Amino acid sequence: CGIVGIVGHSPVAPLIVDALKRLEYRGYDSAGVATIEHGKLARRRAEGKLVNLERRLAEEPLGGFIGIGHTRWATHGVPNEVNAHPHFSEDVAIVHNGIIENFSELRSELVAEGFVFASQTDTEVVAHLVSRALRGGASPQEAAFSALKRLKGAFALAILFRGDEDLIIGARSGPPLAVGHGEGEMFLGSDAIALAPFTDAITYLEDGDWVVVRRSGMQIFDMEGRPVERPRQQSVGTSFLVDKGNHRHFMEKEIHEQPEVISHTLANYLDFAEGGVRAFEMPFDFGKIDRLAVSACGTAYLAGLIGKYWLERYARLPVDIDIASEFRYREMPLSKSSAALFVSQSGETADTLASLRYCRAQGVPIASIVNVRDSTIARESDGIFPTLAGPEIGVASTKAFTCQLAIFAALAARAGLQRGTLSDEEARRMVRALSEAPRYAAQALRLEGHIEKIARELSQVRHVLYLGRDTSYPLAMEGALKLKEISYIHAEGYAAGELKHGPIALIDESMPVIVIAPTDRIFEKTVSNMQEVAARGGRIILITDEAGAARASLDKFETIVMPTMPEFIAPIVYALPVQMLAYHTAVAMGTDVDQPRNLAKSVTVE
Ligand code: G6P
Repeated sequence: CGIVGIVGHSPVAPLIVDALKRLEYRGYDSAGVATIEHGKLARRRAEGKLVNLERRLAEEPLGGFIGIGHTRWATHGVPNEVNAHPHFSEDVAIVHNGIIENFSELRSELVAEGFVFASQTDTEVVAHLVSRALRGGASPQEAAFSALKRLKGAFALAILFRGDEDLIIGARSGPPLAVGHGEGEMFLGSDAIALAPFTDAITYLEDGDWVVVRRSGMQIFDMEGRPVERPRQQSVGTSFLVDKGNHRHFMEKEIHEQPEVISHTLANYLDFAEGGVRAFEMPFDFGKIDRLAVSACGTAYLAGLIGKYWLERYARLPVDIDIASEFRYREMPLSKSSAALFVSQSGETADTLASLRYCRAQGVPIASIVNVRDSTIARESDGIFPTLAGPEIGVASTKAFTCQLAIFAALAARAGLQRGTLSDEEARRMVRALSEAPRYAAQALRLEGHIEKIARELSQVRHVLYLGRDTSYPLAMEGALKLKEISYIHAEGYAAGELKHGPIALIDESMPVIVIAPTDRIFEKTVSNMQEVAARGGRIILITDEAGAARASLDKFETIVMPTMPEFIAPIVYALPVQMLAYHTAVAMGTDVDQPRNLAKSVTVE
């Protein structure tokens, strides 16, 4: 899931491993490095974490001033050493992110010509395609170009040629790839964070671009093979120190950063001193559209679902919300008077990007809520609403989620004003409520000790049900998603009212039910659902405020008592206990919290 390449002036293998470590946050299940030394291609690969690769390199070091490296998240072929990248074919080594969709057709063609495949990966076909062209007398550049023309799918590639110790060829069609400019050395990387220790001068390849990288510089070409110019930028990646501080895990650190980053994000959209909504730039006018299509994946999708409740309630704006992998193929008709909004922490999620391009083809204005400002989704939008969460490293999204919610809340206030459904005074009340959200979030963090105790019990069970109504319903789904992502406990989030339509059949003494219920207009309804669970012996963990705890009179059950706050901001603040519960359960179980098995941070494949 991460690519690094260096044409340098000292041994590159340790530098490549360092850069790969900075890409670890994307999630991976094997890793490898290849270099050329004295005209010989050599590689070391290992299943599992980068420490295993480092151990291999310590036993059998790799020299060479040119090399490529990779962290792999398995798509074709199980995550073992044989399937780990780099892949070789005669004089070629290659690393690849993404999926080659026509690989089985290409593989049959190559097998028929006598090429022998060592792995089950789709990547190996690219190595053999390049080799075949080299055998036919093509130069490395011609060979790479001819191979690229045969590939269908989404990929980023870096290729090394045994005969040339001053050449890496990179290509991008989908997943991001950036060139880093050094002094007499050059770099390739999946993002600027990977290259941060080496350089902050970055050129991003655009979709369909490929690049010839040498120590003296680089040249980018388009899909037709024509030289193209792409801007050189100063990356912001370097200004962030990506370390855990005094926290055990990035996820823990990121949970604790929330009061601060929510406040930064809100300050971009709201004027706390004046108590109003700022006139931030918008690619469309909420007063002039009659529908908004929102799509996203995973946690970002659940933020969008909460956004729908708010935009419909406060701005009377109908919102269609879809999981991006469904939206992109659903062929939803979009009228000229609608707009589209995409939500993505990384700004690189393949399905979300494809949905954006569908909307682009429909001719509607496009906005996105993104955490990475120079990401592809950001660049292809007409306008962006940046979340100011800082780099999110833990695979399970936490602070990006609450910052996405903060933006949706600000958008709801803005939309309500533009559509005339909120008076100035009502909007001011929303702004005041939001200005308090960081303070309540800080108070919620103080419940951590109590939550940790409950989590220890949770770590003993196999299944958990989360219930909520209204905006607590998407939050129930987010709670279930967080728990399964990092603790591998099976969990489901349900609308409390749906309980009797199925999930109630699962309730017994061994099934904890986590109920998210701030005292809002439908609190009593959720309490009735809770009684239905209690009557069947289910164990209830209630997350509510003081009034809620009193009204539910659930003294024999666990409660997590939150500060009393305006109903509007509850989902932002209640996200914290939900995240802490998942986090401490995973810690109690001893799982790999920051890089849970099988998951990737940035999913650039379908
Ligand atoms: C992956 C991550 C999730 C994230 C989702 C969408 O599945 O593990 O935490 O919510 O992708 O990612 P995005 O970068 O588009 O928000």
